[in-house]
Amino acid sequence: MATRIIQPPAARAPSRQRVPTWRQALTERIDDQWDLVREVGADRREHLSSNATYVLADAVQFLAELPPNSIHAVVTDPPYGVIEYEQKDHQKLRSGRGGVWRIPPSFDGAKRSPLPRFTVLSEEELTKLHSFFSAIAYGIHRALVPGGHAFVAANPLLSTMTFHAFQSAGLEKRGEVIRLVTTLRGGDRPKGAEKEFSDVSMMARSGWEPWGIFRKPMIGTAAANLKAWGTGGLRRISADEPFRDVIPCSPTRGREREIAPHPSLKPQRFMRQLVRAALPLGVGIIYDPFAGSGSTLAAAEAIGYRAIGTDRDVEYFGIATRAFPALSRLAIVQ
Ligand SMILES: C[S@@+](CC[C@H](N)C(=O)[O-])C[C@H]1O[C@@H](n2cnc3c(N)ncnc32)[C@H](O)[C@@H]1O
Repeated sequence: MATRIIQPPAARAPSRQRVPTWRQALTERIDDQWDLVREVGADRREHLSSNATYVLADAVQFLAELPPNSIHAVVTDPPYGVIEYEQKDHQKLRSGRGGVWRIPPSFDGAKRSPLPRFTVLSEEELTKLHSFFSAIAYGIHRALVPGGHAFVAANPLLSTMTFHAFQSAGLEKRGEVIRLVTTLRGGDRPKGAEKEFSDVSMMARSGWEPWGIFRKPMIGTAAANLKAWGTGGLRRISADEPFRDVIPCSPTRGREREIAPHPSLKPQRFMRQLVRAALPLGVGIIYDPFAGSGSTLAAAEAIGYRAIGTDRDVEYFGIATRAFPALSRLAIVQ
């Protein structure tokens, strides 16, 4: 009797029929969108890889140039108080002369990096902050596809205001990711009276960083939106484990800071988890309006996603361009 050879499933040639037609159509649409999005506007840009582009541009202006419904997720770490990256205070940071940037007090002899002090914002600066975030939020709402998520970093002092701007722009609040991180913010005794009030801290020592999770309203059911746009939900960590909203992750240190010396560098270990979760089907285009050293773009590259970023600072544009290959290949321990 002739022996019938049955190929094991893994060795079979991939069948075209196995990919649902909606998925094929979605992938083709995203391929076309990517070709369009990475060439938007006339600003200077660097194509860092076939999946990543960094544009030297103002975020508000770039958002206005993006076609509506062209981005599948936003993952960004904006200037929390706005003024710290405005010319006056940013210049002071670069020349080491203070402004809103302060070196946290050190009692252990370790070298500290400057941190912006958000308790010093005036009424006028707070009003400006709200207008700035409103402009960004409206732009994001327009550029996102239905069901697209935005992960937006903030600071416990300012998050209420920032997140309110996103909700007012029509984005649904879908929770917050809490990054558990030991910081040097807060916990200080009254200035000039440390001995007299040795048992007093003026503010709690902060141990967390909020990231707002927002979503552009879906069209129809979750399944219909996923099929039409590839968005609406979050990618699970595995079949058994959903994405979770508390992520312990220590500050960016050592080798990573050497590769990408930006004052607000976010760690790859954390960014890769957020970026991965942002595209539920693993396809789409991520946008980071405030790309800095390119940490979001590097995280997307490491995962195999497409991503575009903007920053208006030419020095950070240069840092990101140089850092991208090493940052995206950085081995991380989860
Ligand atoms: C908090 S940092 C982001 C750092 C980034 N997460 C990283 O890991 O490198 C904010 C960035 O926003 C940029 N920025 C501020 N205002 C901007 C604007 N209107 N348009 C584009 N970029 C802006 C600053 O130059 C700064 O690099």
